[in-house]
Amino acid sequence: MTAGRFITFEGGEGCGKSTQIRLLAERLRAAGKEVLLTREPGGTALAEKIRSLVREESDDPPNSRAETLLFIASRAQVVENVIRPALASGAWVLCDRFADSTFAYQGYGRGLDLEELKRINSFTTGGLEPDKTILLNVSPEVSAKRMRAREAATNTDADRMEKAGDGFHARLRQGFLELAATEPERFAVIQADGSVEEVEETVWNSIQPML
Ligand SMILES: Nc1ncnc2c1ncn2[C@@H]1O[C@H](COP(=O)(O)OP(=O)(O)O)[C@@H](O)[C@H]1O
Ligand SMILES: [Mg+2]
Repeated sequence: MTAGRFITFEGGEGCGKSTQIRLLAERLRAAGKEVLLTREPGGTALAEKIRSLVREESDDPPNSRAETLLFIASRAQVVENVIRPALASGAWVLCDRFADSTFAYQGYGRGLDLEELKRINSFTTGGLEPDKTILLNVSPEVSAKRMRAREAATNTDADRMEKAGDGFHARLRQGFLELAATEPERFAVIQADGSVEEVEETVWNSIQPML
């Protein structure tokens, strides 16, 4: 049995993760691969409930540590119940956000200690790490524009994380780039300001060595 491949998509709000992950899934399926598409937080019934808890506006929003542990609980569930079995069966698993989002959002964004977060994460995943992480990097202007477009198209409002403010989003963007710089083998940093088709092509090229 061949072990599968594990690819994660990371980046701030509106950088195009959900768009590009679907396109990569289609291309991989067309190339004859078994593909499992999942997301974080979410990906199982329990994890989707946690996703609602962390995203909704509330009179009692989770503080930074509670927020971290909610995300982490969702991850533990999806890793053991969904991702590991799929990888063991030889599938390509594509995950919309993973551990790097914890490091970027709760570490660089909220200011929690990065080393502590890494220890908690390693407990959560049992050491599972992506084979490749696609970081979609867009300018803050493009990110804001795409979020507004999505809100208009889907008739939804920005969620609690998306409303965190410009300073937060700037730290996040810088944080993702710093994380990528420390693990250049795992990360493919992709400039994602261009058209959907241009970015799709760059993503496809970046995973060629894995095929
Ligand atoms: N390259 C692109 N150019 C223009 N609009 C895009 C591009 N990629 C995605 N979008 C649009 O921007 C919005 C946010 O994209 P999405 O894939 O949902 O981002 P994310 O999942 O990273 O938050 C969506 O409305 C999407 O259709
Ligand atoms: Mg998305």
